Amino acid sequence: MNEQQRKEQSKLRTGKSVDKKSSQDKPLSEKTTEDFAHYFQTTYQPPNINKARKRYREDIEVHYDFTIPDEMNSIGVDKNFLIRTYGCQMNEHDSETMAGILMQMGYKATTEVEEADVIILNTCAIRENAENRVFGEIGHLKALKVEKPDLIIGVAGCMSQQETVVNRILEKHQQVDLIFGTHNIHRLPQLIQEAMFSKAQVVEVWSKEGDIYENLPKARHGNIKAWVNIMYGCDKFCTYCIVPMTRGKERSRRPEDIIQEVRQLAAQGYKEITLLGQNVNSYGKDFEDIDYLFGDLLNDMNKIDIPRVRFMTPHPRDFDDRAIAALAKGGNLLDHIHLPVQSGSSEILRRMNRKYTREAYLELVRKIKKAIPNATLTTDIIVGFPNETDEQFEETMTLVEEVGFESAYTFIYSPREGTPAAVMEDNVPMDVKKERLYRLNELVNQQSAQSMQQYEGNIIKVLVEGESKRDSEVLSGYTEKNKVVNFKGPKSIIGEIVEVKITDAKTWSLDGELVTKTTEVNENAKIHT
Ligand code: 5AD
Ligand code: SF4
Repeated sequence: MNEQQRKEQSKLRTGKSVDKKSSQDKPLSEKTTEDFAHYFQTTYQPPNINKARKRYREDIEVHYDFTIPDEMNSIGVDKNFLIRTYGCQMNEHDSETMAGILMQMGYKATTEVEEADVIILNTCAIRENAENRVFGEIGHLKALKVEKPDLIIGVAGCMSQQETVVNRILEKHQQVDLIFGTHNIHRLPQLIQEAMFSKAQVVEVWSKEGDIYENLPKARHGNIKAWVNIMYGCDKFCTYCIVPMTRGKERSRRPEDIIQEVRQLAAQGYKEITLLGQNVNSYGKDFEDIDYLFGDLLNDMNKIDIPRVRFMTPHPRDFDDRAIAALAKGGNLLDHIHLPVQSGSSEILRRMNRKYTREAYLELVRKIKKAIPNATLTTDIIVGFPNETDEQFEETMTLVEEVGFESAYTFIYSPREGTPAAVMEDNVPMDVKKERLYRLNELVNQQSAQSMQQYEGNIIKVLVEGESKRDSEVLSGYTEKNKVVNFKGPKSIIGEIVEVKITDAKTWSLDGELVTKTTEVNENAKIHT
């Protein structure tokens, strides 16, 4: 189905024209949600597990034909763009795609807001505070827009997928020229064109799209590490999470497209890739013509001559034996696994719709540690889910100790409109939630500090990424287990994997000295010198 057909279909589904003009005749103050609803290709659907399952039956189309229209391919010459990214790695990588498209249109990147002709806020909707920050930034940009009326301000990303957010921007933030969703990035040239020549705010947000756009240009940050999307969307529908609504259904890129991209990155000299997906290990489950799952992709990655392969983020439920067996082979597959648990209580996990119990998670951890003895585990945890009792929270604390997570991203539950958890009764006061978060963080910090101690005196491999942010005389890099190491050395080794002897372990980073002689050591060998 092409874009035109899609638009036609949407006209049929909503029974309305996608032409914006009719409602634009009304003054804003008289507009209702109805007036804006036609901006959405399909009507925004609240999360519904049954409907999510039905999403599997829709066709996934892969498009290989991205081009920039002739009239747009030099429109950005002598102009600058700035993209501000909020949220996760998926957003970071989407911003690289937006930057790539804008650069093909002739725009140059700037870090100065005042110099920019196009500013895009690539937003995150996962927690309320992420949204508040974006609205704060939109407010700040108002003065600049008044000064520079030709400036194009765009809002993209997960917030744009929410009808309430779009309505709020349309009603209250006239300085925003363009709102586009996570499924509309490939349309950026046309959208910029519309924003330039239209008097009205331009909105293009497709809901529940299930297509894949290959061959989009990318302006990657740096030339050492790269993100590689392997799948998009999420069909898990955890009850607290907005992502299935903002990122659409699960769909996997074809293996040959991923392999080709990673081979190219290797040939360009990249040293590390991170395979990206909301649920990386659901990879391949949507293929109807081939039996090719995440474990198979890992095996194929292992054959490519690139030193380090990571992945983000697996779901415990989908961690199958094929993936564990592939990881156990080692090679370029690193043994740091970020495995979000969210809670240590089976009852809370059930209400979160995580589809596993505490015991099943612990069993998976045992399996992983048996197959990959040096595996390092890190996690995500939410505290203060509606009606979480003290006992249930204590179960999270004991699970953190039992697994021995070396670090964790910890969050206070944030209700997201349109998710099932947002309408659950919640008797846990905010100060109790904060206290729980504090206690959890104390425990995680303690475990992190302990995990760092074991490296003192060891020689470990570090991928040197550049100068340390705090001191330009010091270099900074990451170990295989993703620990930051600071040490002195020549700038010429930036981009190389070198050996560093750890002299001092801190809670979140390690200090060390560059080892000049080359001996075959690795992080797991724990060689004491
Ligand atoms: N409130 C708090 N944390 C959340 N996360 C996702 N949704 C919410 C929410 N509504 C956390 C989960 C997830 C991480 C990316 O963000 O821990 O793994
Ligand atoms: Fe959100 Fe991850 Fe659950 Fe999907 S699996 S709904 S992205 S927390």
